[in-house]
Amino acid sequence: MEKLSSLVQQLSHTPIIFVGGKGGVGKTTTAAALASKFAEQQQKTLIVSTDPAHSLGDVFAMSLSSSSAKNKPKALTEYLDALELDPDLIIDEHFARVEKTISSYANPDMMPKIREHLQLSKSAPGAQEAAMLEAICRYLVDSVEQGVYQHIIFDTAPTGHTLRLLMLPEMMEAWTDGLLTQQRRQAKLKGAADNLATKKTKSALSNPFEDAKPVDKWQQAVDVLNARKNLFKKAGELLHDRQKTAVVLVLTADNLPIEETRRAVNQLKEAKLAPAALVVNQLIEAEQNDEFWQNRAIRQQSLLKDIQSHFVDYPIYGVYLQPSDVRGREALTKLN
Ligand SMILES: Nc1ncnc2c1ncn2[C@@H]1O[C@H](COP(=O)(O)OP(=O)(O)OP(=O)(O)O)[C@@H](O)[C@H]1O
Ligand SMILES: [Mg+2]
Repeated sequence: MEKLSSLVQQLSHTPIIFVGGKGGVGKTTTAAALASKFAEQQQKTLIVSTDPAHSLGDVFAMSLSSSSAKNKPKALTEYLDALELDPDLIIDEHFARVEKTISSYANPDMMPKIREHLQLSKSAPGAQEAAMLEAICRYLVDSVEQGVYQHIIFDTAPTGHTLRLLMLPEMMEAWTDGLLTQQRRQAKLKGAADNLATKKTKSALSNPFEDAKPVDKWQQAVDVLNARKNLFKKAGELLHDRQKTAVVLVLTADNLPIEETRRAVNQLKEAKLAPAALVVNQLIEAEQNDEFWQNRAIRQQSLLKDIQSHFVDYPIYGVYLQPSDVRGREALTKLN
């Protein structure tokens, strides 16, 4: 089985890397090791944690969430930046933008009620996910467009969540499209109502240049929705481009993680995505002195055979179980 350094080689020209897998299999460790190895090769890399239960700081053995620099990448070395996305802050910013958009065209008397409603919506199911997704899409699109980073690695929450994130841009694009259609219909009605209310001369009504009027509030709202739609469209295109995005699925040679990886591969296929590689973590040597460990090694060898025969379409890399937790850049860079 090939080593992690070969995976670094495989991904050396891939700008976006998602690391996913079942809980506790070693996603954060793998993502942080990849990031450290790229940085070691002087490839400018950003590692982003999208798991609300962050552990990047722990793995790099440093604090990443200083309140002054929330949701801004922190430079760990010249070539390595790290970012733990704070969902509470993201959701606050997201709803502040929504409120701003609504207040540009809503009746000011309605705003207190609308604000109350928005406040409640923050804790609605899926709201945090949607806000997080928009933030991820923005980092993803910006980083590829601005070209600051050669790699942006997403350390994600356990599998289901990652996959939903990868599929959501298209859903969100369709949803924003629906909103835009509705907005257009309402704008038409509103236009008709305005024309009835204000006695316009015939010539003004038929003048196509009449649009040169104070900024149309509706148009502002439509522009915001259009910008979101474009963001999701671009993100969706990047995620589906095999040259640009790789999904790395981490598992251990145990029954449940293997099952979960099977499901993940199928779900990815349904979304016309595919993993670029699998990483089997926590391997132990096949020959052991101790009877307990020898039994475990035999079981692992048999499960490894299952993995290799089941996932024949994908390159598989192996990482050995270390004597202690992998902490700090030096240990991560060396992990093989
Ligand atoms: N190869 C390894 N050798 C030794 N310890 C490891 C190895 N891989 C992971 N660990 C340890 O196992 C624990 C879980 O690893 P990690 O946090 O990377 O998993 P995760 O998949 O990100 O977990 P979660 O689903 O909770 O985010 C950590 O304490 C980590 O240091
Ligand atoms: Mg993790």
